[in-house]
Amino acid sequence: MNIYHNLKPGETISQKIVNAIRTVAGEAKVALHEPIFKGNEWSYLKDCLDSGYVSSIGQYVEQFENQVCEFTGSKYAVAVVSGTAALHLGLLVGGIKPNEEVLIPSLTFIATANAVSYCGAVPHFVDVSEVNLGIDAKKLRTYLRKISIMEDGYCINKFTGRPIKAVVPMHVFGHPCDLSALLEISKEFNIILIEDAAEAIGSLYENKHVGTYGKLGIFSFNGNKTITTGGGGMILTDDILIAQKAKHLSTTAKKAHPFKYLHDEIGFNYRMPNLNAALGCAQLEQLPNILSKKRELFKIYSEVFSDISEIEIFKEPLCSRSNYWLQTLLLKEKFTEYQEDIITSCIEAGINVRPAWTPLHQLSVFETSPASPMLTTSSLVKRIINIPSSVGLI
Ligand SMILES: Cc1ncc(COP(=O)(O)O)c(C=O)c1O
Repeated sequence: MNIYHNLKPGETISQKIVNAIRTVAGEAKVALHEPIFKGNEWSYLKDCLDSGYVSSIGQYVEQFENQVCEFTGSKYAVAVVSGTAALHLGLLVGGIKPNEEVLIPSLTFIATANAVSYCGAVPHFVDVSEVNLGIDAKKLRTYLRKISIMEDGYCINKFTGRPIKAVVPMHVFGHPCDLSALLEISKEFNIILIEDAAEAIGSLYENKHVGTYGKLGIFSFNGNKTITTGGGGMILTDDILIAQKAKHLSTTAKKAHPFKYLHDEIGFNYRMPNLNAALGCAQLEQLPNILSKKRELFKIYSEVFSDISEIEIFKEPLCSRSNYWLQTLLLKEKFTEYQEDIITSCIEAGINVRPAWTPLHQLSVFETSPASPMLTTSSLVKRIINIPSSVGLI
């Protein structure tokens, strides 16, 4: 007898999931996430090529920044070459210094931790919440009360002696974290809040766009994101000094002059090229349509998976509107042993699915970094499976 009450005789849970995805995605090979170019992409790119301005000077870069401000409600936006560059620059202009600690979730893409390391700072990994997959605010407060002391208004890690300078929540697969609670914690412990909203353009928390809650926030426009510039990123902030400094550092810290090369700091070549921004302007016009299709896809998957009792499909947290960047299956705890078989079966069937990232505190590159207990992270990595999420599926 089959142990799964709702399986047909001989049907495994993996086959059932493959079949369910097939009902949505059809029989052909299916990607995890593909971009869609059905608006003005070709015409803006041609216009950009015709103009000859394909690098960091040109009208599309500012236009893209202005359009992102309008869409998100952020006062300022600075376009850069990648989400990783946005994080690096954001942390630098946010005031992160060498040998300071920055609290980040262990369940995130490695770029969050890399950017902290680029600043000479130390990632300090914390656990996440089952409810929104992002930093668990309640656990974080309890943890900080235990491991830190306040000295001259600064939060100091009692065990390492280093200042804990910032917290960088990440909105996993587009689902907003509990930003109100995290803001309260940032005030209580005098730590800066910087949002890694790389995956979350179009997501709202309490009706306000994510990425606009902290001192600054960032987006990624990599090819696998909800909208893309090929490669690209953006810093969002309401602080004009932060925006000016970020733009200055992203353009090699070159001072304005009709012809002289004058640089007043060690800067970076991080400014987004006009060519990428042209693509971004066209993609942004499509965003409302893309977002509504992503919600529709979530509803279709919810229906299709409703009778598979071993899993649930992850739903946006309360008080939030998620962009549903990557649709996510969550295996129930007692079925985690099937995760690998489900993933392998899907891939063998031509359906590109993937597990969550290896928790960063487990990577050898970060083995000396401080980390909180990771109960929920450890459970979630065994249970998460991202399934095909392209808008082109519907
Ligand atoms: C959470 C997170 N942070 C940062 C990044 C880095 O963005 P990029 O790939 O544009 O450098 C990504 C995505 O790739 C991401 O998912």
